[in-house]
Amino acid sequence: RIAGPSGLVLFGVTGDLARKKLMPAIYDLANRGLLPPGFALVGFARRDWAHEDFAEVVHDAVREHARTPFRSEVWDRLAEGLRFVQGTFDDDDAFDRLAATVGELDSERGTNGNHAFYLSIPPDAFPTVCKQLSRAGLAESTEEAWRRVVIEKPFGHDLGSARELNGIVNDVFPEESVFRIDHYLGKETVQNLLALRFANELFEPIWNSHHVDHVQITMAEDIGVGGRAGYYDGIGAARDVIQNHLLQLLALTAMEEPLSFSPHDLREEKIKVLSATKLAEPMDETTARGQYAAGWQGSSEVKGLQQEDGFPPDSVTETYAAITCEVNTRRWAGVPFYLRTGKRLGRRVTEIAVVFKRAPHLPFDQTMTEELGQNALVVRVQPDEGVTLRFGSKVPGSGMEVRDVTMDFGYGSAFTEASPEAYERLLLDVLLGEPSLFPTNTEVELSWRILDPVIEKWHREGTPDAYAAGTWGPRSADELLSRTGRTWRRP
Ligand code: BG6
Repeated sequence: RIAGPSGLVLFGVTGDLARKKLMPAIYDLANRGLLPPGFALVGFARRDWAHEDFAEVVHDAVREHARTPFRSEVWDRLAEGLRFVQGTFDDDDAFDRLAATVGELDSERGTNGNHAFYLSIPPDAFPTVCKQLSRAGLAESTEEAWRRVVIEKPFGHDLGSARELNGIVNDVFPEESVFRIDHYLGKETVQNLLALRFANELFEPIWNSHHVDHVQITMAEDIGVGGRAGYYDGIGAARDVIQNHLLQLLALTAMEEPLSFSPHDLREEKIKVLSATKLAEPMDETTARGQYAAGWQGSSEVKGLQQEDGFPPDSVTETYAAITCEVNTRRWAGVPFYLRTGKRLGRRVTEIAVVFKRAPHLPFDQTMTEELGQNALVVRVQPDEGVTLRFGSKVPGSGMEVRDVTMDFGYGSAFTEASPEAYERLLLDVLLGEPSLFPTNTEVELSWRILDPVIEKWHREGTPDAYAAGTWGPRSADELLSRTGRTWRRP
């Protein structure tokens, strides 16, 4: 679907996200013909820029980071709709100028009053910007024209602050106009989880505690957090990744079939499953956290977190977090969901592994099944996108030896179309007013409710366990699983 007449106002144009993801995504959408011809992009920032300077910044970001080839005719058309408004968030005049610019675009470019405001800025600036948008008459939708606000995480730092933030945003924008970005939901492979589960007969009958032993959701990164101290120190891995991306993956993995894929029905099922989810106890045995120390990433030597620029040498911020969740529903009672994430781990990989129980009986000589593990269905979210099914197979030869083999589906070989970048999909959905892939305030609050107890515990305890960069996390994380006779997958 192609977006109707509309424009986007971007706050935080000088940030990394804008340069690496948002501006390139807008160009890619234009290049695919999915933006209206009169689309307008307005940048708002403190810098003393003319429209041309802003255009140059967007141009450079596009040249460097866009996914699709650069075509001058697409760029020229997009560039005609670029505007810049200089100002600070507490400057009434600047927001009045913004309102005037938006009004001019409506007549010059035919944006017809439809505008989305993307707040790619620190959350402590949300209240001021929301109030300014409201004061300048920019926030209110009418019968003819829509206004939407897009916000980026962190959506608070615990349940209390998330409620407060939601209150502030919802005072100005009604919930149906609020689009909270969790870019994991924009990933093709994540959406495919719904197709895999609900378009097939194969998996759903065994997708429950009768057959599933446990679920492992992993988001491992090889990068560190150097250069992001301002955001990351004091936040840590659980708030940065588990509260949003991993609990959303859990929700999609564990939820019941929605009545339809309408935004309401889909979100309702996610809300139900998140309401049924809590941390397993005792937390001393079911959670682990770590902080990377100096080590080796491939052939390069890398610093520990405490030596990274901007981090205090006694920082207690965790860069690795693992938790065990229980989902208290008939389908999942007794099945642990292990969630882990970390920086500076062995490699970058995100996957959801549904690990099945062992066959109740093996009519083989025991020595013939020593290399037979548990069946598993692994949704490979990234980077090697696809699905793997692991099962036992006979080893060729005269004996009846059985060992694990895998059957793979790879996006690259099954489809010729490249997957769009998550931000591309999500930005288009904002302009289309299609909210399915955006978590609601209830989901955000439920996720904090799940996570708060362990964050509070870690806060009381101080220093996380150290792990060397380039390894798979602290020993305590391995113990978390070995205690139950299980092991983490080494993707
Ligand atoms: C962001 C986190 O939400 O996701 C980052 O704030 C993390 O810390 C990033 O690096 C990872 O995203 P992706 O799409 O590369 O897995």
